[in-house]
Amino acid sequence: MNMELEGKVAIVTGAAGGFGRELVRGLLGAGAKVAALDVDEKRLDELATLHEEPVETGRLVTARTDISRYEECAAAVAQARAGLGGLHVLINNGALGMGVIRIDHMTELVGIQEIAPEMWDRFVAVNLSGAWYMTRAAIDGMLAQGWGCIVNVTTSMFTMLRGKFHPYGPAKAGLEAMSAGHAGEFEGRGVTVNVVVPGGPSDTPMVPMESGFDRSAMVPPTAMVPPILWLCSEAGGAHTGHRYVAANWDTTVDPEVAAEGCRAPIGWPDLAQNPVWPGGRPDE
Ligand SMILES: NC(=O)c1ccc[n+]([C@@H]2O[C@H](COP(=O)([O-])OP(=O)(O)OC[C@H]3O[C@@H](n4cnc5c(N)ncnc54)[C@H](O)[C@@H]3O)[C@@H](O)[C@H]2O)c1
Repeated sequence: MNMELEGKVAIVTGAAGGFGRELVRGLLGAGAKVAALDVDEKRLDELATLHEEPVETGRLVTARTDISRYEECAAAVAQARAGLGGLHVLINNGALGMGVIRIDHMTELVGIQEIAPEMWDRFVAVNLSGAWYMTRAAIDGMLAQGWGCIVNVTTSMFTMLRGKFHPYGPAKAGLEAMSAGHAGEFEGRGVTVNVVVPGGPSDTPMVPMESGFDRSAMVPPTAMVPPILWLCSEAGGAHTGHRYVAANWDTTVDPEVAAEGCRAPIGWPDLAQNPVWPGGRPDE
């Protein structure tokens, strides 16, 4: 077993989903302890049975946690710290997909009139506020110990800007912007913030069969694991503020080289040049 993450404690949100399960498996395989959070209790229970030994040895705990509720996020962080002995890694992976609105949303896109205001609010609460709540609950401890790794799973720029792919796209664009801001805020204080995206539609429950994709041509959910494990390691811990496209991670080369080959700055730094800022830009 690769024990590179031995001694580290990780929280994974959306842990019962397609990427979440692979991330839990990968983190446990690398020696980490994992708190797996999701709202889907049935699939969380299945997750626990997949990893019997880590459950017995206390290396895996599962907890029903709705990330759209701050008090549940704070309780999950406290539980991980008390039950697993710390918190070093936070993977903000949980989200709602457009299938919640309509199962055939890929072939017949969703117009604004189909989105109830409550549905808009729910997407923003889960897909954007959820990551902020988890970060808000986890950050003090990470800063105090001088080491933390936060990974936010956003989506492709295409999906963010795509018409009739709301509220998913705009909520993910908000998460992308939040990631850039947090990377800057925590830089030099031992806490990294990076974005990882699959690089295209991936074969998980979020993309329903009704989407019509050839599932074998989609990005395999396992593609997310190598870049995220590397970011959680001591080597990856030197890097912050980047967005990694998992499909472009080359597993046949040294991780530093693989990382270099699939990353860019988070968000849209080239566009963040205000033409006018009285007195000079605040970051100059
Ligand atoms: N599958 C893709 O093609 C794709 C592409 C780009 C980005 N992503 C992103 O990857 C991440 C993982 O997605 P996936 O493809 O594994 O989807 P998935 O639907 O398999 O997993 C998402 C998980 O989040 C959980 N979840 C939903 N609401 C929650 C809440 N309020 N609190 C806690 N957990 C909640 C779900 O129960 C589910 O288990 C998501 O952030 C998604 O937006 C997916």
